[in-house]
Amino acid sequence: MMDQSDPFDFFNSWMKEAIKAEPNMPEAMCLSTVAKNGTVSSRMVLLKDYNRQGFVFYTNLESRKGRDLTLSGRASLCLHWKALERQITIQGNAEPVDAATADAYFASRPRGSQIGAWASRQSDAMTPPDALEIRVGEFTKKFADGPVPRPPHWSGFCVVPDRIEFWQGHESRLHDRLVFTGGGNDWTKETLFP
Ligand SMILES: Cc1cc2nc3c(=O)[nH]c(=O)nc-3n(C[C@H](O)[C@H](O)[C@H](O)COP(=O)(O)O)c2cc1C
Repeated sequence: MMDQSDPFDFFNSWMKEAIKAEPNMPEAMCLSTVAKNGTVSSRMVLLKDYNRQGFVFYTNLESRKGRDLTLSGRASLCLHWKALERQITIQGNAEPVDAATADAYFASRPRGSQIGAWASRQSDAMTPPDALEIRVGEFTKKFADGPVPRPPHWSGFCVVPDRIEFWQGHESRLHDRLVFTGGGNDWTKETLFP
């Protein structure tokens, strides 16, 4: 049975073990969001930072997920590490990352990704079929050899958790499930039937 008392320390220890056990994108996570009409949608994103406030990823704010999060604020994350038979699910409010933090992360990205962030109207229908290529060309020309600033429609969200569940697989499906509910430094811990 798992005996961790702090969900952030627990997350950190599992993430470190996942980095050793899963060389292929251990930081990949499924993000689910909800639209105004109640439609739920899911997609993968990369966890770029985590701390005692929450779990940070970056995206296009005008994408489907970006619009959902701006409207409802609610997010669910799911990380799964097959080699470890572990899953962590997180629910919380997605809060915008501050501009300086987003600028610093954007500046650290490869130039091609920076141009791509300007060129892609993420989640919009692409017409004509070569619209992306054309836009990449336009923005490559626009920024010439100078620095590429962060687009206003591109930033990060920090999912500030109010529920974090740790799942450890075991034989005969007698898995461990440890759930923390609360927030900040005030968490209630309970175990659930598998
Ligand atoms: C492993 C993996 C990691 C991804 N990471 C990101 C990411 O960090 N940010 C992002 O905007 N899209 C990422 N994507 C693409 C998204 O899954 C998705 O296709 C895109 O963001 C558009 O989503 P939306 O239309 O639901 O908003 C990733 C895809 C995969 C498969």
